[in-house]
Amino acid sequence: MAVEKAMLLAMMAAAKDVRERAYAPYSGFKVGAAVVGGTGKKVYLGCNVENASYGLTLCAERVAICRAISEGEKTISAVVVVGGEKAPARPCGACLQVMAEFAPKNEPLVIVTCTASDTYTQATLADYLPIPFTLRS
Ligand code: THU
Repeated sequence: MAVEKAMLLAMMAAAKDVRERAYAPYSGFKVGAAVVGGTGKKVYLGCNVENASYGLTLCAERVAICRAISEGEKTISAVVVVGGEKAPARPCGACLQVMAEFAPKNEPLVIVTCTASDTYTQATLADYLPIPFTLRS
């Protein structure tokens, strides 16, 4: 595994905290995300931010990824998503494609999905999105 268990647990706690800041007045569905950059040290957080023009809504994962890239990260090693009550929220297709853009070349990008009550599953980006869109055929 590319990311230490202790790091994943810390990311889960942080994603749970940032989920409380979600702006989700339309769906009522709060999501928090934590991303660790390729340097493996710094964690970047995001929550979903909805809009009255629904299609402008930003998912928590993409907010966290954009924060990581804006701070100088070139790749991301792991994404933790916290949302949902009984079953964990899975990243949507748009977020998976954005993850593919910044996935490391030589190791799997770890995705952990977690409920607000700490049930979690671990997989990789390749499990969710085996064949991402690319301009290189
Ligand atoms: N949402 C996320 O934040 N991440 C996802 O991967 C899927 C959905 C948000 C968007 C919207 O604010 C709410 O969940 C309901 O779709």
